[in-house]
Amino acid sequence: MLYSPFNVTLRPAPDGPTTAPDHTAMTNLQQQHEGEQLKGELRATRARLKSILDDSADGILVLDRENRILHWNKGAERIFGSTADDVVDTSFDTFVPDDLKQKGELAEIAERVERDGFLADYETRRVAKDGRVLIVNITSTLLRDGSGQAVGRSSIVRDVTESKKIHEELLRTRHLASIGEMAATVAHEIRNPLAGISGAIQVIRDGLDDEDPRRNVVREMLEHVSRLDDTVRDMLLLSKPWQPVRQACVLGDVVEKILADMRAHPEFDNVRFSCEGDGGHDARIDPLLLEQVMMNLFQNAADAMGWRGEITCRLDGDDRKVSIEVLDHGSGCSDEVRGKLFDPFFTTKVHGTGLGLAVCKSIMDSHRGEIEIEAEAGRGTTVKLSFPKGE
Ligand SMILES: Nc1ncnc2c1ncn2[C@@H]1O[C@H](COP(=O)(O)OP(=O)(O)OP(=O)(O)O)[C@@H](O)[C@H]1O
Ligand SMILES: [Mg+2]
Repeated sequence: MLYSPFNVTLRPAPDGPTTAPDHTAMTNLQQQHEGEQLKGELRATRARLKSILDDSADGILVLDRENRILHWNKGAERIFGSTADDVVDTSFDTFVPDDLKQKGELAEIAERVERDGFLADYETRRVAKDGRVLIVNITSTLLRDGSGQAVGRSSIVRDVTESKKIHEELLRTRHLASIGEMAATVAHEIRNPLAGISGAIQVIRDGLDDEDPRRNVVREMLEHVSRLDDTVRDMLLLSKPWQPVRQACVLGDVVEKILADMRAHPEFDNVRFSCEGDGGHDARIDPLLLEQVMMNLFQNAADAMGWRGEITCRLDGDDRKVSIEVLDHGSGCSDEVRGKLFDPFFTTKVHGTGLGLAVCKSIMDSHRGEIEIEAEAGRGTTVKLSFPKGE
């Protein structure tokens, strides 16, 4: 249904018997012809307007003063997922989230439009048919009938959910970049005094008898200093772009070699490593950096399983890329945690620095590769590394 505030009625010129002389008949004929032409033009204009309204990529809808939907174009169908047949003559309320409904948002919008004649660039939330929450930008204009009486409003609705997300991501990245810069400067300044402290503690330790109980305290101090040094090293590594030295290798061979190193590592004494899938693919990877990535992933996986259980590496590839999946059956994580896994300093561990996955991400970026994590609370985690083959 196309709502129009105007009523145009076209009537063909009356025909039938006439007593007018010939030239009047000619004029009538001419008028009739012009009338037909006008009618055609109006029909074309109307079709053009209808097509603009109906086919616009933006949602265009018309609501009456009670928020009943009078018109709903294809753009609105695409944004909200409901067809005009479904919604015309129903209340627009269905698309308003509950909290905004309670606040009486639609009445407030109607009031502002009636007061000012329009409402421009109003950003709000709406709910699509499938329950997705959308962020939309709305511009509404007051509609009046022929006597100037307000009869409702027309609205142009734009779905800005994605662009909003990208914008927020950009702000977050900028924010993180500035924190990163500051952290790198601080890390640099901390490293030298830290080395001094460590040296001094070692001198004290060397002056103590083997039986001296203070040796334990000194050992603990050295462990803390060493942990601090690891954190500072990771922060510095993160602040510089990696320069991978890629080597041609067979995927399975390079992974097996890393696994052999891990099996020999005392911290993984109670962890079994297995490798499956198709490891025969050629790859171009920096083996030392890959080992660093996998070491971080194995530590996380072992941590999530209480340092006992099985970690599986699944290998695969095609013409374009090779992939390594690292699977564990540990704690997994909630949706909220999953959204922050790659943020520097994000950790849920008492002694974690939250830099492990951030370092993995930056190493994968330097290989033009990807790292993706699938995890569900209580159901384990799968981390997938993909490397392009050609580079
Ligand atoms: N395999 C996994 N299973 C469950 N949670 C994980 C897993 N891997 C990472 N996480 C979650 O992601 C967080 C960030 O991991 P990340 O490796 O970046 O830092 P961290 O392990 O906390 O500290 P560290 O810098 O010592 O590695 C972890 O604290 C943990 O909550
Ligand atoms: Mg970690």
